[in-house]
Amino acid sequence: MKKTAVIVAAGSGIRMGSELPKQFHEMNGKPVLWHSIKAFTDAYDDIEVVVVLPATFLDLGAGLSLEFPAHVVRTTSGGASRFESVRNGLELVDDDSLVLVHDAARCLVTPALVQRCVEAATSLGNAIPAIESNDSLRVIIGDRNEQISREWVRLIQTPQVFKADILKRAFQQDYEPSFTDEATVAENLGVTIHLVPGERENLKITTPADLAVAELLLKKRNG
Ligand code: C5P
Repeated sequence: MKKTAVIVAAGSGIRMGSELPKQFHEMNGKPVLWHSIKAFTDAYDDIEVVVVLPATFLDLGAGLSLEFPAHVVRTTSGGASRFESVRNGLELVDDDSLVLVHDAARCLVTPALVQRCVEAATSLGNAIPAIESNDSLRVIIGDRNEQISREWVRLIQTPQVFKADILKRAFQQDYEPSFTDEATVAENLGVTIHLVPGERENLKITTPADLAVAELLLKKRNG
């Protein structure tokens, strides 16, 4: 089945405390976004990639995508929310494709994880990566809080893989605050979501500390 990755990189990265959005920060000589794209092109020779960029950084993003063959990487601009950015990216995806939606900020994603998600989604219709929590957990109930078993909880990552026609239909819904990822949007249409094992190193760069950790992990990976 045809595979198209939609890599959303249109956030402003306010929590990084810098003018330059986090997806353009350099990590081991290449921008965070470059590392994300590379994991997908390494996973499959025949994959297509749609990169969703901030309207104000279209030139920078387009220059970066030139490092990949033109028929592989296309770019479009994002919106004010992640939901809008994904919706814009999906417009460039064919209905008969498998679509792999990924946060550019998770630049340590591995080709093996991409393949695991695609293989599961090919047979089950969708697959999203999840890991267990290492921390103890509590839920807030009004002015109280209560312990919740770690066994009941999973931390959700990307890439989230779906049959494109289903995800495109799901993204025609009006935005709701509960729509934090593709799974929540599809689930609202009644789709059953399938979990596959994620990877602890597939962290989302949010703060300068995350960038430092990601850089160290990448250096270790590259020997
Ligand atoms: O802000 P957060 O870290 O949750 O963003 C997750 C991913 O979604 C990032 O890669 C970010 O660039 C992207 N995003 C986007 N458009 C927005 C907001 C976030 O593409 N308006």
